[in-house]
Amino acid sequence: MRLSTPLKSNSIKIMLLGSGELGKEVAIEANRLGCEVIAVDRYPNAPAMLVAHRSYVINMKNKEQVLDVIRREKPDFVLPEIEAINIEALFEAENEGIHIIPNAEAVNKTMNRKNIRKFAAESLGLKTSKYKFVSTYEDLKNACDELGYPAVVKPIMSSSGHGQSIVKSPEEVITAWEFAKSDARGSADELIVEEFIDFDYEITLLTAKNDSEIVFCPPIGHIQKGGDYIFSWQEMEMSETALQKAQHIAKTIVEGLGGRGIFGVEMFIKGDEVYFSEVSPRPHDTGLVTLITQTQSEFALHIRAVLNLPLGFEFLTPGASAAFKADKTTYTPSFNIAHEVFSQTSRFVVFGKPESHPGRRMGVLLVSDKTSKDALERAKLLISKVSID
Ligand SMILES: Nc1ncnc2c1ncn2[C@@H]1O[C@H](COP(=O)(O)OP(=O)(O)O)[C@@H](O)[C@H]1O
Ligand SMILES: [Mg+2]
Repeated sequence: MRLSTPLKSNSIKIMLLGSGELGKEVAIEANRLGCEVIAVDRYPNAPAMLVAHRSYVINMKNKEQVLDVIRREKPDFVLPEIEAINIEALFEAENEGIHIIPNAEAVNKTMNRKNIRKFAAESLGLKTSKYKFVSTYEDLKNACDELGYPAVVKPIMSSSGHGQSIVKSPEEVITAWEFAKSDARGSADELIVEEFIDFDYEITLLTAKNDSEIVFCPPIGHIQKGGDYIFSWQEMEMSETALQKAQHIAKTIVEGLGGRGIFGVEMFIKGDEVYFSEVSPRPHDTGLVTLITQTQSEFALHIRAVLNLPLGFEFLTPGASAAFKADKTTYTPSFNIAHEVFSQTSRFVVFGKPESHPGRRMGVLLVSDKTSKDALERAKLLISKVSID
């Protein structure tokens, strides 16, 4: 094991491609281990840039610009923090000997719903919702009829709910088609249609992998609204059978993708049945709760895995997180926070984004309590005591 000091000729250099709130926590943990941190994003003063040694503002979808910063800095590790990155640049950098986390092919598979679904369901044999891929309205209509209503429609290249809808009846297919075409952030040339799983609950199973071990965090429950999570809690209570199945799925997908780092494996649970949904080859937003629940948060585990350090940690306490979203635009964000938000067992984290816009996530509230249910109740109450002006 080797660690170093930043800004030296022998520093271990970490480049974050994407410098949001998750990247910021990764940058802080990397700093704690003496790494030199280079933050890259499409706008200046992004959260991770506030705690990095250097930063670059580039168009992340432009191959030449991504390759240029990588070649210029020659980092030991490149950590893609978002999905919207030019993938060819990552393959090329990897060929030039740069270590992409977890690896370029894993990033490629997970940024595309078709690739990851076929890999999980067809290559690895994991249980998923039934699905079809379509590229015309006619095919979409037929796929919905075949899979039954409600059906879930998503552009294969999209995230955070963009272009996604639930089609409840044949009459709604046209709306879903138009929405997918207009709201997708990536390409909406192809759509995935999924059987709707009427799950009891959904989880993120954070799974960290280095070269010799795989560790699971206790399952995180979460509630999604409009394509983003609003509350998460840990630990989510599960039957022993469901937990075993979930860990088996997580291990299979993480070993299948390979490489080192933390993965957020999303699954739906109905009774003792567990469906694989999707996976992030990086920290997961619902995992912000681990900042208050674990001795090593998902961010600390990620960096440890990247550096191939041991992955041991302890679950300290049940907890919950509430995403704080702005309801207005301001270029000088300031937060009104009630006194009781800061207590022995609760706190608010400011991401430091330079501008707020309606719906933009600006911070997160963290609560610990005797049970995750109690923590969630308090998180729901306390988040109503934060506002922006
Ligand atoms: N097949 C499905 N059945 C039921 N709910 C689903 C299905 N697919 C997605 N969802 C719901 O929508 C959320 C977002 O879908 P997901 O595939 O994770 O997209 P994203 O990449 O935007 O996170 C899920 O967390 C889940 O709550
Ligand atoms: Mg998801």
